[in-house]
Amino acid sequence: MKILANDGISKMGISLLEENGFQVLTTTVAQEQLGNYINQNQVTGLLVRSATKVNKNLIDECPGLKLIGRGGVGMDNIDVDYAKKKGIHVINTPSASSLSVAELVFAHLYGGVRFLYDANRNMPLEGDSRFKQLKKSYGKGKELAGKTLGIIGFGRIGQATAKLALGAGMKVLFFDPVLDKVSLTLTFFDGQTVTFHLTKTEKEELLKESDFITVHVPAQKTYVLGKKEFELMKDGVGIINAARGGVIDEVALVDALESDKVSFAGMDVYESEPNPEIRILMHPKISLTPHIGGATNEAQDRIGLELAEQIISYLK
Ligand SMILES: NC(=O)c1ccc[n+]([C@@H]2O[C@H](COP(=O)([O-])OP(=O)(O)OC[C@H]3O[C@@H](n4cnc5c(N)ncnc54)[C@H](O)[C@@H]3O)[C@@H](O)[C@H]2O)c1
Repeated sequence: MKILANDGISKMGISLLEENGFQVLTTTVAQEQLGNYINQNQVTGLLVRSATKVNKNLIDECPGLKLIGRGGVGMDNIDVDYAKKKGIHVINTPSASSLSVAELVFAHLYGGVRFLYDANRNMPLEGDSRFKQLKKSYGKGKELAGKTLGIIGFGRIGQATAKLALGAGMKVLFFDPVLDKVSLTLTFFDGQTVTFHLTKTEKEELLKESDFITVHVPAQKTYVLGKKEFELMKDGVGIINAARGGVIDEVALVDALESDKVSFAGMDVYESEPNPEIRILMHPKISLTPHIGGATNEAQDRIGLELAEQIISYLK
């Protein structure tokens, strides 16, 4: 059986599929030629990430398709309901990148409390001429250990972030409308485990008590953090958004950064992605990454393996 991985798949995923008798095609076929290619090559399973769109027309065009797989979480680029109605099995890999996103949150947090985002902008310009002044401006860093991290949205990524925070010696508060109590087991390199039992904190209290706040909710109709929420926060709070553009009001965030309510922000996702606002890109207190939360080699390997395992169990 042939599987077309149109947006790529890890070598580990390909090997596992091939060992189980599947042929994996890794050509990237242009959207308008995709239906033709699938039919001509008798492709049974189509794997995509976020680039390829699997809409109603494509599904109608390819009656031989039995499975559609999304490497990653969101299925916005696939007409899932229609595919299912047509008897096509739809799979994704929702937890494969959770740890990668959580580690990026910590990259922004550790970078934030030591001003790395700004030092990396200014050292190339002034590191040789104003070394002592720069040393002074970045000399009032903070440690994360002992501080409180508030996590809004306590699903897969929120919980993975909490584990890193606990391991780093932080206190963790979480708010999630559907979860009251969560037990998290941290596993260390030598097999030791420690289990923490956490209880939900109401959102308002979390906003008031956290030294840093990170948001891990799905796309929302309204902002999770806006003007009202920023006002409730501690002065000098650090904010991270590696969830979705639009969960934080960026205008309110910039105002809060400028009034020093918020000391720094770490952003991986943007309201106007893929053209983030210039005020965000140029802001000296924002640590920036271009939506790479889940983009690690390890996550790609897990995505490939998880897709391969699901394909084998469904199609073989
Ligand atoms: N930066 C990246 O590259 C990257 C990669 C993967 C996922 N993501 C994003 O991360 C987010 C979280 O992913 P996940 O896998 O943890 O999802 P998940 O479904 O496992 O968890 C989301 C949690 O948010 C909670 N929630 C929903 N609305 C809420 C609200 N208003 N306030 C508080 N909690 C709320 C839900 O109850 C759920 O428990 C998603 O938006 C996803 O798109 C980003």
